[in-house]
Amino acid sequence: MSVLSLSRPRWWRAWAAGVLAVQLAALVVLWPARAAAPAPAPIDDASFRALLQNDPGTGHPVDSVQAMLPLLPRALRTNFTLVYDSRSPFKDQITPSAPRVILFTDDGRFILTFIGDPSAPGHDLVETMSFDDDTAQFKLTAYVLPAAKRIGWAPSPAAANCAGCHGAGLRGQGNIPGLAGRSPSYLARQLYDIQAGARAGQAVQVMRGVAARLDERDIIAVAAYLASLEP
Ligand code: HEC
Repeated sequence: MSVLSLSRPRWWRAWAAGVLAVQLAALVVLWPARAAAPAPAPIDDASFRALLQNDPGTGHPVDSVQAMLPLLPRALRTNFTLVYDSRSPFKDQITPSAPRVILFTDDGRFILTFIGDPSAPGHDLVETMSFDDDTAQFKLTAYVLPAAKRIGWAPSPAAANCAGCHGAGLRGQGNIPGLAGRSPSYLARQLYDIQAGARAGQAVQVMRGVAARLDERDIIAVAAYLASLEP
């Protein structure tokens, strides 16, 4: 009896391992076929932007990080690192089971990062760093994919009249900075800093009350919303 109950799980484990091995082999064999044709030229800012503008599966801009991943060139999908802690404004979106994901090319000239948790509000904000030969510097770009824009956070006029101070279309007026189309991580960082009192100055006092009313999810959502507006 005891022999039977011991040997069954062992047999089952071997069988399960066999199934897993077959699945992994199939994934490796089928992966290139599932992915779109890899970009022939090395990926850079322009080719990545072009890739995001047209999902061959839908004919529309790439909707989400999930839809983007299979379209990326193989080099980006094979070089990755997972970040479990950071000083980024989005650090609270990182959990042990869903770290932040960083993908990079073999030569490290193009780096792409996003929040790994698909249920986190910032998941569909993609940030890239690409090396620019002309300036010999890395250029930072943020892309707010349509799925992030659908969060639909729009400041309620009763809660905080952002446009009242930041101008029509949130493009800025007088000394008050424009917010439309700016980097979501920059905006989120400013809102955290204003909330925490880390941003000093006279002008920022009026923003204090506004920032105090935003919670974690609001900050991520408002950053996505602002970044999605036309500058
Ligand atoms: C009462 C006027 C007022 C309102 C209402 C207001 N802001 Fe501001 N905001 C300011 C001022 C003034 C600054 C610039 C502070 C400084 O110079 O340090 C600022 C700065 C900011 C910044 C930092 C921008 C930068 O360039 O660093 C962000 C982000 C921001 N506001 C977001 C918002 C959002 C989102 C709302 C609506 C929910 C909002 N603000 C509503 C007055 C306002």
